[in-house]
Formats: sequence, C-alpha cells, structure tokens
Amino acid sequence: MRKKIVAGNWKMNTTVAEGVELAKAVAAGSAKVPADVKLIIAPPFTHLVPVAEAIKGTAIGLSAQNCADKEKGAYTGEVAADMLVSAGCQYTILGHSERRQYYGETDAKLVEKVKLAIANGLSPIFCVGENLEEREAGRHFDVVTEQVKNVLYTLSAEDMAKVIIAYEPVWAIGTGKTATAEQAQEIHACIRKVIAEKFGALSEEITILYGGSCKPSNAKELFACPDIDGGLIGGAALKADDFIAIALSY
Ligand code: PGA
Repeated sequence: MRKKIVAGNWKMNTTVAEGVELAKAVAAGSAKVPADVKLIIAPPFTHLVPVAEAIKGTAIGLSAQNCADKEKGAYTGEVAADMLVSAGCQYTILGHSERRQYYGETDAKLVEKVKLAIANGLSPIFCVGENLEEREAGRHFDVVTEQVKNVLYTLSAEDMAKVIIAYEPVWAIGTGKTATAEQAQEIHACIRKVIAEKFGALSEEITILYGGSCKPSNAKELFACPDIDGGLIGGAALKADDFIAIALSY
C-alpha cells in the first residue's frame, strides 16, 4: 500500500507569528483526518523551529521548501540538509518549478540536493512538470520523463524508496487552472512506468502527488485516480480549513 500524502507548500507567505497560528489551526483540524492520510506542511525556513514546536505531538510532518547542494561552509544565504533535520524537518521539497524557473535550478544541482537530503535523513518531495509551451507542443510526457530520469535514475534503489514525487504542471500552478483528473492520471502513470523501468516493483511503492490549483472542490476527483497518491497544495494550504478539507477528500 502506497502512502497517501497531502502536503502544504506555503511558499514565501506568512510572518513567523502568522505561520505558527496557521500550523496550530492545521494541527487542530488534523484530528479529523484519517490516520492513513499523512499531512505535511512546508513553511519558510524562518518558521521551521517554532512550527515544529506548534505541531509537536501530532502526526503532521514538517518539510522545508529547498535545501543547499553543498554540505556546509562558505555558501552565504544557503541552508544545509542537516540544519533542516536539526530544525525538526523530515522532508524537503526539491526542484519546485519556481526554483527551476526563477533561481536557475538545474537537474545537475538537483542530483546533489536530492542526494544530500537523503544522506541526512530527509525524504525529498521531488517536483517535476511541464510548462504551457511544452504541453501545447505535445512534449509533456518527454519533459517529465527526462526530469525524472536525469535526477532519480542516479539514485540507488534504497535511496529511491525515500523519494516522494510531485507532478506539478507549471501552467496549473497558482493559475486556478487544474489539470483534469485524466490529464494528471496519464502523467502519473507515465512517471510510475519510468520509475519501474529502472527500479522495478519499487515503483508501486512510490507516492506520486499532484500539484497545481488543487482545492477542496477538485481534490476528490484527482485523488480517486489510481496513480494519484495525494496532493502538493500551494494557495489552498494557506487556509487551514481548505487544507484539511482537501485531506478529507480521500
Ligand atoms: P497552487 O501551488 O496549489 O497554488 O497552484 C501548488 C504548488 O506550487 O506546489
């Protein structure tokens, strides 16, 4: 049985005080969520320590939104994987399209980040997804296949088992345009097949999340698809009620 996960990516939103309040509201609402649906929240770096405290005693997982591609040292402004662990994280998002697009994150850098995250005990939430131009050109399967292969094919099976994949079509992120359940399912199935080509039956164990304008009104249909194992939620994760309602859509 694959793990079902609903993860909230807060992006660059909320002050520390607002973030702690949001985490507390998610913690309160989490009591209603069935035990087989794992909730994860990914606040900004500055919020991790107090948010870890706010969700203590709950089953909610804590994730960062990025980590450095270097172990430690003179890399001003970067945050290393072991620092995230010491702040209370079990996960980190890596390769989000906003990082790829605005901060020049390459597959080569992501190989380093994914490996360092895993070596330090974090599970990466590794994001892939095509942009609008690529989808319109009919290249979405190829783009996603390449993103998966370039980074995840460098891992051992033991390390691959720790990875969560998130498929996030760039044209659906923050735009209100969700991929249809059919569009999402066919890419998720493709990702699982690409993982199977290298890692065999392990592909059946890998959680693949959908992200991109996922909200309470469309979560149920998406989560009903056989290869969709949950969601990576942006905008709707900033409201505890919506985030919990999405988790309750399972
Ligand atoms: P969105 O963002 O739900 O606001 O579209 C999803 C994401 O980028 O993780």
